Amino acid sequence: MASAEHSSSAAAPGQQEARRGAFSSRKVFILAAIGSAVGLGNIWRFPYVAYENGGGAFVIPYLIALLTAGLPFLFLDYAIGHKHRGSAPLSMARESRKAEPLGWWQVGICFVIAVYYAVIIAYAARYTFFSIDKAWGADPEGFFFGEFLQTSEPGVTLDFVAGVLIALLIVWAAVLLIMGLGVQKGIGATSVVFIPLLVLAFGFLVVRALFLPGAAEGLDTLFSPDWASLRDASVWAAAFGQIFFSLSIGFGIMITYASYVGRRTDMTGSGLVVGFANSGFELLAGIGVFAALGFMAQSSGVAVDEVVADGIGLAFVAFPAIISEAAGGSLIGVLFFGSLVIAGLTSLVSVLEVVVSAVRDKFDLKRVTAVLVVGVPAMVVSVLLFSTTSGLLVLDIVDYFVNQFGILLVAVVTMVVMGVGLKALPGLAAHLNRHGSVKLGRTWMLLVAVVAPLALGYVLVRAFIDTLDEPYGGYPAWMLNVFGWGTAGLVLVVALVITVTRRKAVTPEHDREGADR
Ligand code: ALA
Repeated sequence: MASAEHSSSAAAPGQQEARRGAFSSRKVFILAAIGSAVGLGNIWRFPYVAYENGGGAFVIPYLIALLTAGLPFLFLDYAIGHKHRGSAPLSMARESRKAEPLGWWQVGICFVIAVYYAVIIAYAARYTFFSIDKAWGADPEGFFFGEFLQTSEPGVTLDFVAGVLIALLIVWAAVLLIMGLGVQKGIGATSVVFIPLLVLAFGFLVVRALFLPGAAEGLDTLFSPDWASLRDASVWAAAFGQIFFSLSIGFGIMITYASYVGRRTDMTGSGLVVGFANSGFELLAGIGVFAALGFMAQSSGVAVDEVVADGIGLAFVAFPAIISEAAGGSLIGVLFFGSLVIAGLTSLVSVLEVVVSAVRDKFDLKRVTAVLVVGVPAMVVSVLLFSTTSGLLVLDIVDYFVNQFGILLVAVVTMVVMGVGLKALPGLAAHLNRHGSVKLGRTWMLLVAVVAPLALGYVLVRAFIDTLDEPYGGYPAWMLNVFGWGTAGLVLVVALVITVTRRKAVTPEHDREGADR
């Protein structure tokens, strides 16, 4: 097993980097990190989360969550991955062996996210083609839930939907191919092509949406602050959840990507570029979608907040309606759903890379072997659970629970363990400050160890109580127990089990100036 190509962590730093793979430059890393961050979270999730949480009410908690928890946690992820140069579990273990389960917890969350994330990309791929001839006809809502997804009553079926299944298999094939090509030739190269393409397509789309009649009313809904709703804990929970999902933080992605970056890289400056690019894109998506909703409201003579059913169908129900009404609608549709596919693919690759790199580090596998060992079971689970007539229902439950009681929970625990338990923050800050253009000091440590865990902890407890009080989405209790609480709990149990299975030597891999590139 210990060939030079995939030998253990006792290898010299140069050899180790050659074995693990690396981004060729800071620019490629930034594009890959933006590719990871900008995804379905920005285009599909942000507009409906903002919409469900009162539109204008949402922007202020969102920005506060970004500054108090999002960016500080992004730096924490970067510091852990860049200093310890391993996958999430290995980097955590190099900080302290006791922290390894945190890394596996994040890996488990990524596996769960990957299996449903791929399905939404598959929907978007189908809708890119549906846009050409407006296949949904006069009833986009009926088409999405009925003709296209054939959504069943609450429950679980094994009735496969061919239109979803085939697209899903193609998505998985594309993802596994990109990942098999490696960190630079696969992930890096894809981001270098896809991100500029995405900016062009989406920029054009937003400008087009702004010129639709009624756009101003839509924007008014998004940007009118509703101060009263700042007292509503669920709005804050949604804002924190959105920031973590969207920035790709709290689930090991940025730890993994940072481990592929040259040792002398300015990570804090890069983090600000990534963080603001992501939120900029998200707000842009909000502007585009709300402008389009304003158009729809005006054409149907109702208020913007009454214009469509909310929830995860918003992109697949509202946009088709707009595409049918607006001049040049087919082009808008191809750009919108095509953007979803491009943004989604670069994010899905990053989510799965967390699992692949962790499995490689732990079991000493070659990249292609690890991609297959992880990717094939993920594809099978994805197909079995989500390409059936009950797929959308399960997806809705898993998405909610894994975000609230997966990502947010592991984020709080990580901050407390790193900040209070291991007192690791001064060492991590010193590491990033060595080459970082933005210096991290007491404010960062205070935010990571105290402010963000308290804010997030409060939000989580409230969300926990609310979810117990009122079953999420009105689904039957057994579905919530199995796919919601069950999934969140299973991830944790599996993390603990993997931690205690065959352990690879955890050689400290602290930054060595002599090895800098
Ligand atoms: N950050 C990725 C997204 O926003 C996961 O979709």
